[in-house]
Amino acid sequence: GLCNTRDMFAGAMAGKYAIPAYNFNNMEQLQAIISGCAQSRSPVILQVSKGARNYANGTLLRYMAMGAVELAHQTAPIPIALHLDHGDSFELCKDCVDSGFSSVMIDGSHLSFQENMALTKKVVEYAHQFDVSVEGELGVLAGIEDEVSSEVSHYTDPEEVEEFVRFTGVDSLAISIGTSHGAFKFAPGKPVPPLRFDILEEIERRLPGFPIVLHGASSVVPEYVDMINAYGGDIKGALGVPEEQLRRAASSAVCKINIDSDGRLAFTAAIRKALAENPAEFDPRKYLSPARDLLVELIKHKNREVLGSAERI
Ligand code: G3H
Ligand code: 13P
Ligand code: NA
Ligand code: ZN
Repeated sequence: GLCNTRDMFAGAMAGKYAIPAYNFNNMEQLQAIISGCAQSRSPVILQVSKGARNYANGTLLRYMAMGAVELAHQTAPIPIALHLDHGDSFELCKDCVDSGFSSVMIDGSHLSFQENMALTKKVVEYAHQFDVSVEGELGVLAGIEDEVSSEVSHYTDPEEVEEFVRFTGVDSLAISIGTSHGAFKFAPGKPVPPLRFDILEEIERRLPGFPIVLHGASSVVPEYVDMINAYGGDIKGALGVPEEQLRRAASSAVCKINIDSDGRLAFTAAIRKALAENPAEFDPRKYLSPARDLLVELIKHKNREVLGSAERI
């Protein structure tokens, strides 16, 4: 069945790699994640956001994930967690725990430190009764201009992490060191600013051996952006985190790396190409198959060449 993230993170910490956390909203994305991870023998965290639950129905997604475990294990006995991404309330986290998720995130990063701690602790106390792991977050993931234009830093303050982890009892901590969500992470036309590894190192020093999570970790693969634009799309100035920096993060205390946008870009690129090349096609299976295939390749590449999670089973 589904497992929580505890043993996964212990393995990642010891082996100096990161577990991939891929978001899914539909069957083809889930199939691709499962095939890619089973073929590359990587543990995996399947992530469902609030938006995914609203789009596809929480019950359906949960049964799909449970079915995916059976499917994956026909190829390899990889550990699979089903995780709530960016839970924004105790009620949402409780609902996911009650319905069989093996892991949840409570994202109180927009709250005050005290409110974030209180909410996160409440979720931990509930989830741990059912052996469900909990991810908390400190620091806000900024957009392109936020760091330069704002007076206050959005980065995680290393001075807060020990108290937060001790008080709340979380199993992992998401931090802000210069990544952001989506496909437009950095100002175009300028050199991409490096992630703040100095902050990460200070956090590692204060929380030795504690699993850290990196959100907003898509590379925004230029090949997919170009493919989208070549087949009628219009995506300009998209930029992500260079793979070299993600490799460095994966070899550190970062034990979970969240990837959603890269999958969306690959999927969209393949659909655009298939439809452009076959204008008479109207069987969704015909244009979704290449999208699913490209996503499998992306996932194997991430696991093997970036996160280091392949061949760990
Ligand atoms: O954090 C954002 C994830 O990529 C999920 O995105 O809320 O649009 O499903 P979503
Ligand atoms: P990306 O938008 O960089 O893929 O980040 C995804 C994420 O953090 C999901 O929680
Ligand atoms: Na790591
Ligand atoms: Zn995120």
